[in-house]
Amino acid sequence: MATIEPHGGILVNQVEASTYCPETTLEIELDSMALSDLELIANGAYSPLKGFMNQADYNAVVETMHLSSGVAWSIPIALPVDEAKAKTLKAGVAAALVKDGTIYGYIEVEEVYKPDKEKEAVNVYLTSEAEHPGVKKLFSRPEYYVGGEIKLVKRPSREHSAEFFLDPKETRAKFEELGWKTVVGFQTRNPVHRAHEYIQKTALETVDGLFLNPLVGETKKDDIPGDVRMESYQVLLKNYYPKNRVFLAVFNAAMRYAGPREAIFHAIVRKNFGCTHFIVGRDHAGVGNYYGTYDAQKIFSCFEPEELGIKPLFFEHSFYCNACGGMASYKTCPHDDDQHVILSGTKVRELLRSGTRPPGTFSRPEVVDVLIAGLRRKEEAELIK
Ligand code: ADX
Repeated sequence: MATIEPHGGILVNQVEASTYCPETTLEIELDSMALSDLELIANGAYSPLKGFMNQADYNAVVETMHLSSGVAWSIPIALPVDEAKAKTLKAGVAAALVKDGTIYGYIEVEEVYKPDKEKEAVNVYLTSEAEHPGVKKLFSRPEYYVGGEIKLVKRPSREHSAEFFLDPKETRAKFEELGWKTVVGFQTRNPVHRAHEYIQKTALETVDGLFLNPLVGETKKDDIPGDVRMESYQVLLKNYYPKNRVFLAVFNAAMRYAGPREAIFHAIVRKNFGCTHFIVGRDHAGVGNYYGTYDAQKIFSCFEPEELGIKPLFFEHSFYCNACGGMASYKTCPHDDDQHVILSGTKVRELLRSGTRPPGTFSRPEVVDVLIAGLRRKEEAELIK
């Protein structure tokens, strides 16, 4: 038995046999965010959610960061449809959940409602500026939401790394098999650079295992693609991490870029995967200058520790310090910034895309090799298209 209870007490399982087929001719087309949410609801990663949110849960989450049951939850999980589709749906009907002609699941419609997206943007993303990638996505999706319990009948096909897609019940079993009582989860949408490695290994000094759980769902265009990142994680783990202390599996959700609120969501999901601890560093799930450097840590004080169950481990901005001759953070290093190797995500992506190597004090050479080669491959494939 894994040591930590799933969020809300029970690990949800809404996965049905492929033969499951309620009588209906109605169909709802999913976008890729909704398809990944469907699977993550069904496999229990989003426990206690059993479906897309009804209006009461949606409003409670937007306004209070809790479900209507009182359980902590910070991000709306919605199923958008346009007005024409909304008119065909009513409470009590079933509809097939379809993407590109394939049925992945079914929803039992509980209600159809029109969300206040302006309010959702301001409360969840803390801005309604259309340049914010999460807000842009929010407003680009259709204007009605459908709430109701779902069933998953078909797994989405994996474009890469199929063996790293695990359900929470599988990661929980794995942690148990490894004998880990305490497990720290690490979310990332980037390659693992030296600063990430430093905070992971600092956490590993006090817990049994590290669950490296990169997000590989939809991300913004200029983020490094998931398949290239997956290669880079494997080469890093092989060369620099003790084999029996780290476990790698993907988190197949779309990135929301919602900063503080997304940090809470990320922590809850990792609890469902079986983690007891969760790393929150500098500007977690942030983008541009929308959030303060440590806002994603401060938000944890809005909850009683037992409401979340998983323990956040907070880290200061970390870097290699030339004067210290090692990794450090503002908490441990007395030297000025001119001694610190700090590169923005944008700068690093620029360097990698132009084939220029960031310094070894920023990123491991093996990782850089994989990233440069992977990005080059992508570029060539784009040109051929
Ligand atoms: S995120 O959008 O997935 O949060 P990223 O992959 O950059 O972005 O970060 C993964 C985790 O590492 C987050 O918890 C983030 O706060 C933390 N982190 C990233 N860079 C640093 C750094 N230089 N110092 C401390 N923490 C960091």
